Amino acid sequence: MDVFTYKNGELFVEGVAVRGLAEAYGTPLYIYSKTHLQTQFRRLAAAMQRVKPLICFAIKANSNGAVIRTLLDEGAGLDIVSGGELFRALRAGADPARIVFAGVGKTADEIRYALRTGILCFTVESEPEARRISACAVEMGTTARIAFRINPDVEAHTHKYISTGKKENKFGIDAGRTLEAYALAAALPNIEIAGLHMHIGSQILTAQPFHDAAAKIRELCLRLKALYPTFRYWDIGGGIGIRYKPEDQALDPVAYAERVVPLLEGLGLQIVMEPGRYLCGNAGVLVTRVQYVKDNPSKKFIIIDAAMSDLIRPALYQAYHEIRAVAQTAATVHADLVGPICESGDFLAADRDLPAVGEGDLLAVMSAGAYGFAMASTYNSRPLVAEVMVEGDRAWVVGRREGWEDLVRREVGL
Ligand SMILES: Cc1ncc(COP(=O)(O)O)c(C=O)c1O
Repeated sequence: MDVFTYKNGELFVEGVAVRGLAEAYGTPLYIYSKTHLQTQFRRLAAAMQRVKPLICFAIKANSNGAVIRTLLDEGAGLDIVSGGELFRALRAGADPARIVFAGVGKTADEIRYALRTGILCFTVESEPEARRISACAVEMGTTARIAFRINPDVEAHTHKYISTGKKENKFGIDAGRTLEAYALAAALPNIEIAGLHMHIGSQILTAQPFHDAAAKIRELCLRLKALYPTFRYWDIGGGIGIRYKPEDQALDPVAYAERVVPLLEGLGLQIVMEPGRYLCGNAGVLVTRVQYVKDNPSKKFIIIDAAMSDLIRPALYQAYHEIRAVAQTAATVHADLVGPICESGDFLAADRDLPAVGEGDLLAVMSAGAYGFAMASTYNSRPLVAEVMVEGDRAWVVGRREGWEDLVRREVGL
């Protein structure tokens, strides 16, 4: 179901007009559809039901508490990558026993925090990290459950910055060194070998790379299970891609499951998944107001009140976001859609046919629910924008707009 539709030429999120929200809460404004979050979770759970995975929402994609809470209520666990994300997860009411903790650079403080709360498992990205986790567990008189992140070295056919499963990436351990790494960890005090983790990248639009990675790793899981009686989880990561361009073919969870589930079944292992973008990417839009239209002799610029500081994906990965006019228009203009920041990289769309809009008009940057607000900054001293959740014909603020005072709140010693 598409939750972003035009009714009488006006863009709606579920039953709420985008224009009304922009007027009530100002722009730039992130708007999330609760129904879309729920629908995506249910579609994935249904597609994968033969293996009944623990679906851990990767909150790096969107760490707003209301978004997390919505998915927890659907039955999600969480995937975190920092102490800050653990704090957010607990604040949103997550059960620590359903939290997995990845990331290549965990500090001792973060490890201790996670051990204190009793998370399900650490995804361990190197042998030195295993040693540090062991030392923290010894010091605290507890046991740490771990799963090494094993790098299957498959080509994910995605942007190089979000490809993580190749041997040249910083993540995980080469598959060829798996048994050695596990033997080392098993010999460390206060470590329980709990499972194996893999994650090959993000925004992957075909099932083949997931199939190839699972096919490579399946045998290893069987060997590890035979070697270590406590080995019981196989975390297959996230990465399911979504539609950004109208012509994109999103990866259907049923197609994904058809290729992957046969490799996961019958192993006697609990499957864990870590989708981020798939759950929340198309649940969100960034609404922005046109400030000026500037006609240079060689190029037209539509200058808006949103910037790379609100949505950095186009600047960082040359990512494409569909741009819709809030008041539907068939006319288009060829232009760059740019923000007010003093960087030439500050664009949300470059060299594109865009809706023909003028000063004061509203635009919606589509598919902005994942890696949108979560990557926002206050660069150029632009306060963080507001976030609103919609369900049916109700809307409520889930992130207040910051003001100028917030920009300096943490500064001391003037
Ligand atoms: C370890 C891990 N798990 C899950 C994810 C979520 O990926 P996606 O949003 O593509 O599903 C990421 C993203 O970078 C990740 O690094």
